[in-house]
Amino acid sequence: MVEPGFADAGPADLEPGRCALRDVAGRPVLVARDSSGRLHALSGSCSHALLPLDGARLRGGAVMCPHHGARFELATGRPLGPPASAPLETYAVEEAQGRIRVRLA
Ligand code: FES
Repeated sequence: MVEPGFADAGPADLEPGRCALRDVAGRPVLVARDSSGRLHALSGSCSHALLPLDGARLRGGAVMCPHHGARFELATGRPLGPPASAPLETYAVEEAQGRIRVRLA
């Protein structure tokens, strides 16, 4: 069942513990599957220097920016320490028919 307002975010082929930068309706979104298999979707631009989170890694419930090492809580986008002080925006996410879908609004 696809909820209204959700946009396609690519195939649901993420292994647990992996994340990927996806284009969702022209916006960069980091989609991630935590170690328990739950999906998350966050802004694809780091709040520190607005650089893309391409190459980010997941570790212990956090996403780590590949540029200067800022860490953000996966579930909330809350920064866990410097150099970032602002959160990443988070989005509702669902998995349907082998695809990931994200609601940007
Ligand atoms: S751009 Fe992410 S920590 Fe600097």
